[in-house]
Amino acid sequence: MQTSSPNNEKKTAKAKGTSSDAEVANPATQSEVALVPAVTRQDFADGLRLDLNLGVAAYPVFLMAKPAQLLARYMETLIGQQTAERQSLRLNDPKRVIILCDENTAELFGIDIETQFITAGWEIDALTVPAGEQAKTLAVVEQLCEALATLGANRNTVLCSVGGGIMSDLAGFVAGIYKRGMHLAHISTTLVGLVDAAVGGKTAVNLPTGKNQIGMYKHPLAIVSDPAYLQQLPEEDYVCGLAEAAKTALLAGEEFTAWVEANTELLLQRDPAILRELIARCISFKASVVASDPHEDNVPSARLSLNYGHTLGHVIETVTAQRFYDQQAQQTEQAESDQSEHRQPEESNQTSSDPSGEAALGSPIPHGIAVAQGMRFEARMAMQLVEADASFVLRQDALLDALNLPALDPAIMGDDLANITEVFYRDKKIENSELRFILMANPGNPEIVTVPREILYDHLRAWLSEHTRCSDSVSLLDSERLEHSDNAEGMTGAEPALQAHEEDSQ
Ligand SMILES: NC(=O)c1ccc[n+]([C@@H]2O[C@H](COP(=O)([O-])OP(=O)(O)OC[C@H]3O[C@@H](n4cnc5c(N)ncnc54)[C@H](O)[C@@H]3O)[C@@H](O)[C@H]2O)c1
Repeated sequence: MQTSSPNNEKKTAKAKGTSSDAEVANPATQSEVALVPAVTRQDFADGLRLDLNLGVAAYPVFLMAKPAQLLARYMETLIGQQTAERQSLRLNDPKRVIILCDENTAELFGIDIETQFITAGWEIDALTVPAGEQAKTLAVVEQLCEALATLGANRNTVLCSVGGGIMSDLAGFVAGIYKRGMHLAHISTTLVGLVDAAVGGKTAVNLPTGKNQIGMYKHPLAIVSDPAYLQQLPEEDYVCGLAEAAKTALLAGEEFTAWVEANTELLLQRDPAILRELIARCISFKASVVASDPHEDNVPSARLSLNYGHTLGHVIETVTAQRFYDQQAQQTEQAESDQSEHRQPEESNQTSSDPSGEAALGSPIPHGIAVAQGMRFEARMAMQLVEADASFVLRQDALLDALNLPALDPAIMGDDLANITEVFYRDKKIENSELRFILMANPGNPEIVTVPREILYDHLRAWLSEHTRCSDSVSLLDSERLEHSDNAEGMTGAEPALQAHEEDSQ
């Protein structure tokens, strides 16, 4: 690191077309939840302002040029202003901000953002951490807290993230614990950050046993961005943001979905006006869902619906990370044994499991791409379980195709169906050992649906068999093996890369 309705009502539905006509229990329909009107919007010639009222917190989002300067000026207006959500804000004199960048955002935006704060009359320091999930660890949190102490930061100093979801998760967590809470703001520079991560108050760091396992709710004083920042985002990171945006549009309903469908080309071209509109719509929808249950006190929480596509998505990330790790371990072992003629047998016997869990950070499949495949999978399940029409499935496929989010080849998952199933059953949405999926029959109608194991198997088999190699392999998997996996005992395959995977998108 460098310094410089909710709805508890029980319903049952019959699964269509299953031999067992299995019951799908406890769907809580998002559309039955009264979404709180949580956002007011003001459009200006050069950008827009959204004011989010989440009940537990209220803060603005500014999407315009010179966002750091705007943020500085906005925070000054809060001094002496007492609101229902917050006591009157105190700032240091002179006013002081410490920005937290990763090495990419430091290089791309660091100097400009420092200049904007200085122009606004603020003192500024900068902390930089490595880019990527490796920064979301308790070790980095400790280093950051020590660096803040060395810089003399106190509760009236503002810690401001500059970057995507990784920086906002990390800065949010540090700001929540340093001196039992300091001020927080976000300058968001990725599409995932803007449409999802920065909004909603969730912060997180990873443990070796799982992603996003430690965190708290910590809302910022404001979120700002210049959508022009997104012009420099690598294509892969950009389309991952489009996946979360497509998910949001489908959850929000017909109008937003049709708007995205009509604008896919301009979105891929990163048209500034269209991008700004997309971000504003996504934030507005997410804020409404968050406001209906800000800290997930309800069972089930309306926030669960934001995980549409994420159940299979997380399984894809975990399984491909395991396979990637195992492949690398085998290659290393091979190289070592080739080099050493005198190696003792036990020394070279260290492959194929990842007890530290570090492989979790190494999935070759980016999160948004895995989520998009999850949406395809869940739409097919929805045909069976919530009476989705085939036209919905095809429509969603076409939308994802048009956003450069093609269907994934199931060969990436390997052929160990028992292991894949076991990874599913580590999902956070498990209730009473039953797996729950977010399914929808059409845009705007997500339901949380408990899916029986045999229906999951059917859909997994169907997906895996879309690839010939997998088709052969899967046919070799006999029912005995699947029964074996039901009991989750004596499982074969790699040690789990991620024991648990806390949801991102809530
Ligand atoms: N708290 C939440 O509610 C929530 C929701 C969704 C995701 N998340 C978290 O967000 C993280 C993913 O966020 P992300 O996709 O923004 O990743 P990220 O923060 O790693 O950013 C992606 C990459 O782009 C670089 N970058 C950032 N802005 C750039 C720009 N404008 N131009 C060029 N490069 C730029 C970064 O340095 C990084 O290498 C995950 O850790 C996930 O768990 C949290």
